[in-house]
Amino acid sequence: MKVLVIGAGMYVTGRDGTGPGTVLSSLAQTSKALPIEEVTVVATSPANAATVDAAAARINATIGSDLKVRYRAIARTVDDEIAALCSDARYDCAIVSVPDHLHFAYARAILRQAMHCLVVKPLTPTLAEARELERIRAENGLYGVVEFHKRWDATNLWVRRELESRTLGKLLYFTVEYSQRITIPWTTFRSWSSRTNIFQYLGVHYVDLIWFLTRCVPIRAMAVGTEGTLRRHGIDTWDSVHATVIWQNPADKADRFVSQISVNWIDPACSSAMSDQKFSVIGTRGRIQCDQKNRGLEVVHEDLGIQQINPYFSDYLPDVDGQLAFRGYGHESIDQFVRDVFDVVSRRVDAAELRGNRPTMREALVSTAVVDAVNQSLAENSSWKDMRDPV
Ligand SMILES: NC(=O)c1ccc[n+]([C@@H]2O[C@H](COP(=O)([O-])OP(=O)(O)OC[C@H]3O[C@@H](n4cnc5c(N)ncnc54)[C@H](O)[C@@H]3O)[C@@H](O)[C@H]2O)c1
Repeated sequence: MKVLVIGAGMYVTGRDGTGPGTVLSSLAQTSKALPIEEVTVVATSPANAATVDAAAARINATIGSDLKVRYRAIARTVDDEIAALCSDARYDCAIVSVPDHLHFAYARAILRQAMHCLVVKPLTPTLAEARELERIRAENGLYGVVEFHKRWDATNLWVRRELESRTLGKLLYFTVEYSQRITIPWTTFRSWSSRTNIFQYLGVHYVDLIWFLTRCVPIRAMAVGTEGTLRRHGIDTWDSVHATVIWQNPADKADRFVSQISVNWIDPACSSAMSDQKFSVIGTRGRIQCDQKNRGLEVVHEDLGIQQINPYFSDYLPDVDGQLAFRGYGHESIDQFVRDVFDVVSRRVDAAELRGNRPTMREALVSTAVVDAVNQSLAENSSWKDMRDPV
């Protein structure tokens, strides 16, 4: 299989020491089990070539893989560039990992070239764009998913089982607190943080998770933002966003619950984890509280201070033979996409059959509807926004 990756940033390569680089590490791990011939990484800056080469060499040496990775710099004319790439080589699938506002243009160009496609979250900032992608995907009989890896986290799967068996009785409300260090908008995403906001970039994970856990659909949303820190330093976006969403059970329209999602990206750089995250779900018969930052593993070190480690997301861990392997729910989500594409291209399965718990583009219409409604509410003085049949 040949895989095209759009973007060479933190999530793909772990550039500038930001981590292992989830996308390339995952592909390298999967290549030990499936025939991935080559990965082509493309982005606009020629300077990425050295980053991609270094990441590929580091990953191959770490996990004992032999993944061939090459880099190509492209211009900003998305459709022409993707068409030209596809006339040079036949790719089986593509992974889009560029700044949020570019997801739509790249995903559309890829689907138009009849390639199966994985897009990092959020699918798109607007529902109209997401619907357009889903239309092209369906017309071409392609497999399209969004990288909502929280669907693979065992804690979330445990909560889903409990909610499915109605252990908590009737659901009343969810509260979510999710935040990241100020270094993310300030340094890591400096070139594009003012073109997104913390709800669209990060809060969307929990919107998809609530939809995944409950299968209820959002019907109304409103949001309030706080500002100051980032705007004062030239980054034109909210410090924090507080969204209220009302959800409805499609099988019983009187059955509704509320979610309250508070997100920020101005945590001090000395916070004990990049992501601080916890959620509670409250029903008439009880509550579940889930601390998704403190997984019980803490490091105290004279150089690093105190750090809470999440070993379950994506990292290099020893396997049964003592070899380091890339593991975790971040890897599982990308690995599942590649495995599914392999099954489709080898005609073992039809793309239309790939549903189940997969975060398909169609499933992502729900989280996109909420992102769109929250963005509109923020722009319109926190007015309530209705959502009608997003999926
Ligand atoms: N699922 C997750 O947990 C997770 C984590 C981090 C980031 N993300 C998402 O991944 C996406 C990328 O994040 P990142 O951390 O890699 O960002 P980044 O800023 O580190 O990298 C962005 C990459 O896009 C490239 N790029 C910029 N403009 C481009 C253009 N016009 N055409 C082609 N390439 C272009 C840049 O050269 C760079 O390689 C974002 O949408 C972000 O929300 C997801």
